[in-house]
Amino acid sequence: AQSAKESLYIVSQYAATFFVKQLWETDEGRGIGLSYFKERGFREDILKKFEVGYSPDVWDAMTQSATNAGHKLEFLEATGLSIKNDNGKIYDRFRGRVMFPIHNFTGRIIGFGGRTLKTDKNVPKYVNSPESEIYHKSNVLYGLFHAKKAIRDLDNCYLAEGYADVLSVHQAGIENVVASSGTSLTVEQIKLIGRFTQNITILFDGDAAGIKASLRGLDMILEEGLNVKIVSFPDGHDPDSYMHHVGAGAFKTYLEQNRKDFILYKANVLLKDAGNDPIKRAGIIRDIVESIAKIPDPIKASVFIRECSSLLEIEEHILLSELNKMRSAKL
Ligand code: UTP
Ligand code: MN
Ligand code: MN
Ligand code: MN
Ligand code: MN
Repeated sequence: AQSAKESLYIVSQYAATFFVKQLWETDEGRGIGLSYFKERGFREDILKKFEVGYSPDVWDAMTQSATNAGHKLEFLEATGLSIKNDNGKIYDRFRGRVMFPIHNFTGRIIGFGGRTLKTDKNVPKYVNSPESEIYHKSNVLYGLFHAKKAIRDLDNCYLAEGYADVLSVHQAGIENVVASSGTSLTVEQIKLIGRFTQNITILFDGDAAGIKASLRGLDMILEEGLNVKIVSFPDGHDPDSYMHHVGAGAFKTYLEQNRKDFILYKANVLLKDAGNDPIKRAGIIRDIVESIAKIPDPIKASVFIRECSSLLEIEEHILLSELNKMRSAKL
């Protein structure tokens, strides 16, 4: 008999295949799901590559199909694909949503994100699989299976926020991209990238939440000893919307020309609000040195101190003594 864990992989793959069939082969799927993706500008080859699907807007279509095919409810429930309510009635977790299957880095399906097609603000935009024996979301990066070869070859990993961002960046011909998908970035996710490259380029959304997440993310990446750069997007845009807005060619150029190291990025973000106020400026300089102090390699850190010194026009020895104070405070 196969292990329980293996059974969870099998029902997840069954569900993914079911959702794909619904998207491409049913009137509801084509009329609602596929046309939604097309309106957003996604190409068919990208939709197929990422095995996106559609979950019908009825109570238990997937559960029925899976149990009819001989899959046990026990395993469907264990993945969160099927849910039993208080009255013992079984229903599908995902209904009337476009489906993004989540693969582990060996390519097996371990969970799903389902996006609503409604504009109603009371409906959650994405519903995701719960934690299960096969899905631990803090250890997973969406898209890693499809990106890992390119990450290694290009020795860089683009890190975005969401499912659609990964698809759109791929559609622009850039395959070394993954997403933290909703969970704020974790140390485990950074270590996972670190198995393929030491270089991460953050592509978070150009809104307040995305900027905040970039500042937090870059410190975590530095602390893990990896190199980090950041590309920011005009307010209101994320990589997905910006790619469709400017087109694939211009998007590629944009990434190449707007990649900033963390010092320049932090200086840009923080100095915007400080103006010429000397006290605020001093605080910002400390803030930047604080990030440099997270870099484990002292030689790398000293290179960034030099850059910071020339960028902010502060003498290097002052920054160095600040750095040393912070390092000894940490010990
Ligand atoms: P965003 O709100 O930026 O969504 O959340 P998005 O990816 O741009 O989605 P589209 O373009 O409107 O389709 C970023 C990511 O956070 C997670 C999802 O993984 C999403 O892709 N998220 C967001 C959730 O898990 N639940 C939510 O309700 C919202
Ligand atoms: Mn697959
Ligand atoms: Mn966002
Ligand atoms: Mn977004
Ligand atoms: Mn988006």
